[in-house]
Parts: sequence; structure tokens; C-alpha cells
Amino acid sequence: MPPRFRWVTFDVSDSLPPGWQQAIRTVAESAEFREFPRTPVLSREAPDVPGIPRGRVHADQVRLRLAWLYQRYRGMFLELAGEVSAERVMAARDDRYGIVLNVQRGTAMRFECHVDSNPLTGLLFCTDHPVGGELVIARDAAAADVAAVERGCSVIRPHAGHLIFFDGRRHPHYARPLSSASGMRVVAVMNFYTESCPESARPPELNRHLYGDE
Ligand SMILES: [Fe+2]
Repeated sequence: MPPRFRWVTFDVSDSLPPGWQQAIRTVAESAEFREFPRTPVLSREAPDVPGIPRGRVHADQVRLRLAWLYQRYRGMFLELAGEVSAERVMAARDDRYGIVLNVQRGTAMRFECHVDSNPLTGLLFCTDHPVGGELVIARDAAAADVAAVERGCSVIRPHAGHLIFFDGRRHPHYARPLSSASGMRVVAVMNFYTESCPESARPPELNRHLYGDE
């Protein structure tokens, strides 16, 4: 039987500093908003989709402006990640992609349909969305675009203060657009690694694409 998709949720609201949501919103408003070209190797978008509009707060800004969040990625959240994995879990050594914020504003942005290269992803939802902005994960590993993902999927509604962990290497996933033109969705995305799927196995195309690595 092929592995079924599963995820684990921790409610970490009471472990976050007072005013954390507003602090994140303020930083998220200064995200880089633009159309991001599809990701090499990992994209599961239809061939006619050249890019997807969204916002990103880069890792250096998270570390500088949300130090408490960066510290939790390497501390408490890493410990929780270890609870859900059979293997020892490590945070990324490279600060460029350890923890970033993904941001959507209005109804035209969404997050690219893709699979992950890292064996464990943590998402801290920072905003609530009763409708729209859901994380949608295909049951079928062969789903090759958004429409195929939507035909059979798990749907996770963002709740602020909920931290989820999952292995997204085999199941294509994306974030739906918001339903409100004035809405803003913010999620902190964390990469974790294990000995059997270490950081050194991250596809070099990704770093070339994102950071211009040689
Ligand atoms: Fe992902």
C-alpha cells in the first residue's frame, strides 16, 4: 500500500510571545510581493503556468526582525519536530532557507503547487481563515497540477497558533487563494532534515534558482 499522507498538529499559541500575531503581520506587510517563477524540479503546476504571484519574507529578515521566531525554529519547534519523526531531526544549517514567511494578500495570490525536497516541513499558521487560503494536499502522488490535486485531497484550514508537521516529498500541495480581497494570509515555513534525507541532498538547482548559487 502506498504511504498515506498524514500530518500532526500542535497548538503552540501559549508558547508564543504576547502580540506575536501583530508582530508577524507588520513584517509580512513588507514582504517581497511579485510573481515568482515556477520552481525547478519540484513544481507541480500545469505547463502553461509560468509563475505564481505571492509574497515572501526572506530568512535574513525573519532572523533580524522576528528573532523569537527564529529561536523557536532552532529550539522548541525543533523539539516538537523530533517528537513526530522516527529519526533524529535537524534544523537547516543554511540560514537562507531554514525559516521564511509566505504571504498572500487579496484573491489573486496563492502558493505554488509543488512537492518538498526536505523530509519534514513545519508550518506555523499566523492568521485565521474560515474560508479560503486552505493548504491542500493531493492523495495521489502523480497529481501534476492544481486541478488534479483538487480531485482528491486533504484540506487543512489555517488556525493562528497551530504548528503542523508533514512529509511533503511525495504528495503535491499548494495553498488556495483567499476569498477576501482585504485578507492577508501569513505562514511561517520551516525546513527540517534527517540523517536519511540530509540538507546536503537538497537539489542544487533550488539554490541556483532562489539565490543564484553557482
Ligand atoms: Fe511544501
